[in-house]
Amino acid sequence: MQLMLLTLPDATTVLIRPIAPEDKPLLSAGLRSLSPETAFRRFLSPKVSFSPAELRYLTEVDQIDHIALAAVDATYGFLIAVARSVRTGPDVAELAIVVGDPWQRQGLGRRMLDLVAERANVSRFSGTMLATNRGAVKLMRGFGSHVDSDVIEGGVREIVVRSSVPMREPILTG
Ligand SMILES: CC(C)(COP(=O)(O)OP(=O)(O)OC[C@H]1O[C@@H](n2cnc3c(N)ncnc32)[C@H](O)[C@@H]1OP(=O)(O)O)[C@@H](O)C(=O)NCCC(=O)NCCS
Repeated sequence: MQLMLLTLPDATTVLIRPIAPEDKPLLSAGLRSLSPETAFRRFLSPKVSFSPAELRYLTEVDQIDHIALAAVDATYGFLIAVARSVRTGPDVAELAIVVGDPWQRQGLGRRMLDLVAERANVSRFSGTMLATNRGAVKLMRGFGSHVDSDVIEGGVREIVVRSSVPMREPILTG
């Protein structure tokens, strides 16, 4: 997938595409547009800006072990959502997602996680969220084919699910 267009129930047309190194200003502006609550839920701490190192980490990705997709407004280009999957083991990756406040609860979070999962090529996904984050818990638990574990500790909940996307066979060369 390079580009995908979809229309949300509120009629916003969204372009979903891989994140690129040039997206650093877009991500910074996107963070500033989030409510403090949404930013806290994504980063598990108060967050108003990214350091240069954080911006490099978030945008200079290989799209193999670290997959990151951006959803932008197709007309005006501003950031609507970001979803990412970072491989943390041979067959497991950590998911993270944020959907801007005006566009939440329209199915975009689920759609973006599905797109990330199709590209990640792992059999399990983990997700970490505030234990009180009902939307993220519902999204994560409903995302895979089976919930492997669901642990709450210190107000943080870690959920591991089995991917519903089969892993691809390695391509043998030579
Ligand atoms: C969590 C988040 C990504 C969900 O994105 P979204 O686009 O609103 O989610 P969707 O519309 O695809 O909804 C997915 C499911 O969660 C449910 N849901 C979403 N927000 C909810 C909320 N606040 N309370 C209860 N359920 C909620 C939806 O009803 C839907 O359930 P269904 O599968 O039964 O239909 C979004 O609320 C967000 O960005 N939150 C802040 C960042 C965050 O929490 N990230 C997760 C940790 S990295």
